[in-house]
Amino acid sequence: MTCRTLRPWLSLALAGVLVYCTISAAAPPISPARPRYTRDSRLEAPTGYRSWVFVGSNLSPEYKQDLPENKGPAIEPRKDEKAGQRSDQFHNIYINRESYEWFREKGEFPDPTILVMEVFRAVRKDPKGILTGGQVEGERVGLSVAVKDTHRPQGGVPWAYYTFNLAGSPKPPKPAKAHVDEDCYDCHLQHASKDNVWVQFYPALRDPE
Ligand code: HEC
Repeated sequence: MTCRTLRPWLSLALAGVLVYCTISAAAPPISPARPRYTRDSRLEAPTGYRSWVFVGSNLSPEYKQDLPENKGPAIEPRKDEKAGQRSDQFHNIYINRESYEWFREKGEFPDPTILVMEVFRAVRKDPKGILTGGQVEGERVGLSVAVKDTHRPQGGVPWAYYTFNLAGSPKPPKPAKAHVDEDCYDCHLQHASKDNVWVQFYPALRDPE
């Protein structure tokens, strides 16, 4: 084969390599979000959830006081807060993308599903004094997770609830033990509008796109 006959083959091969590289660069492999547990059945704090689907933000929801099961996720009071005088909080809620898409299509939460709720203190002042009204998200004060997983190592009901101890640090918190059902599961089961999830409060799941 002469150089001249080789040239078209070479450029074809080069084009192929180029196409392959472009495709693999455009579509990195996506690993689905799955709950991860330690050997003693604690849930590891999910990571990367801020790029999952943001389903909604609720401002200072308070749960009905007369419910005997009302304990709610534990949020540390700030030192300068008087008893009974809690500042407002934003509850930001995310769901893993695969479960969001499944729910959109079928109206059900697949197994597994992970919902993360990050709680931020609502603040009226910023360091530069630009705010003249309203509230913005200040320090992160809570991280709770709801997991639907029928293959959970400790078994039990499909949904389990976890509260992570942030200890004032931005680092990923230590793995958490599931709460007992009376603390969290029962209220979610009885009052949330769809399979333990408060779809009624999350525009991204509740309303048509
Ligand atoms: C008395 C009722 C009640 C109890 C008890 C309760 N919750 Fe909830 N939870 C709610 C409501 C209402 C919402 C939705 C509104 C919000 O807080 O933003 C919610 C939302 C959540 C979410 C967001 C995802 C979802 O499931 O919709 C998580 C995570 C969560 N709760 C964790 C917990 C944990 C952990 C506990 C136990 C320590 C707990 N909850 C106990 C009422 C309750």
